[in-house]
Amino acid sequence: MPQFTLHRYCSAPMLGATDRHFRQLARFLSQKALLYTELVHAQALVRGTYALTLPAQAQGAPVALQLAGGETQDLAQAAAIATPYGFSEINLNIGCPSPKGVAGQFGLCLMEDPPLVARCFRACRQATNLPVTIKCRLGSNPAYPWEKLLNFVELLAQEGCQTFIVHARKADLKRYDTHQNRSLVPLDYPAVYRLKELYPQLEWVINGNITNNEEAAAHLRYVDGVMLGRSLYHNLFLLEEVDRLFFALPTPKRTREEYLKERALPYIEREIAQGAPLSHFVRHLLGLYQYQRQATFWRRYLSQNAYKPGATLEVVYKALEEMASRS
Ligand SMILES: Cc1cc2nc3c(=O)[nH]c(=O)nc-3n(C[C@H](O)[C@H](O)[C@H](O)COP(=O)(O)O)c2cc1C
Repeated sequence: MPQFTLHRYCSAPMLGATDRHFRQLARFLSQKALLYTELVHAQALVRGTYALTLPAQAQGAPVALQLAGGETQDLAQAAAIATPYGFSEINLNIGCPSPKGVAGQFGLCLMEDPPLVARCFRACRQATNLPVTIKCRLGSNPAYPWEKLLNFVELLAQEGCQTFIVHARKADLKRYDTHQNRSLVPLDYPAVYRLKELYPQLEWVINGNITNNEEAAAHLRYVDGVMLGRSLYHNLFLLEEVDRLFFALPTPKRTREEYLKERALPYIEREIAQGAPLSHFVRHLLGLYQYQRQATFWRRYLSQNAYKPGATLEVVYKALEEMASRS
């Protein structure tokens, strides 16, 4: 049986959240977690300005580029454009339930048409030497048949897809909006475990409401990898133990203060010197003290002060000082 490790612990693609600064701040905590970019529409690469940012996007590899789109030519061109920039894979978004996806024929609605997904996959695969992977759901509507999902998997496997990331729920586009489709539709973890049983030669990564590393470890008894989205974004320090727990790397333990002073703040300082505003970084750090005694103070102090015009990194140092004096 193949041993899969690259996707053992992944941070989910999240539009408006997992930008390159988030990924860099995450990378300082874990060398091994696989970090996904936000969804990038193929046309943004082919005709838009995203290509100009590519040299900075894969910094802190391993980073997976997530592409969305339903046009084989665009997807192939986008994959080819991105190939030289150091990504570890191209991931196709077949799970996004947003109205834009439905209108623009990308994301979840493509699960309705497995042969089209297979053609998109093939087009990308022919355009790049990077692995191409799929992120999907258990179905695009509540009545999506299990047999159709198996057919979807088999068609893609025939095209050479090795890795499936499955958000362990279907969607209900008729009843729910994008946000509700991430929470109200019931989760079905056993269905993903079953996929691994049926297709053990493929790599299966489970996603959906995994809230901590204990839960992540429990899933790994059944599947090859876990992907965490919201809970990781809102509790970044989960990553601190990931290399030790999930990759057996003997990394020294660090405190949040050490992480900030030694890695995160020097990085932010360099970026600010090049013109980036403090707010671009602070938002990713608001959850750094999640579940700690100082969580409320930290979040409130930064929210109230870091977004003021002209705010500097002093705000963060002041918050740290204040917390040290209270403890
Ligand atoms: C704000 C937000 C943005 C998201 N953007 C994307 C995206 O760009 N691509 C994607 O495949 N999924 C996206 N998702 C879905 C997540 O990747 C993930 O599948 C979902 O949140 C379930 O995982 P979680 O419960 O661990 O958050 C997004 C989710 C959220 C909350």
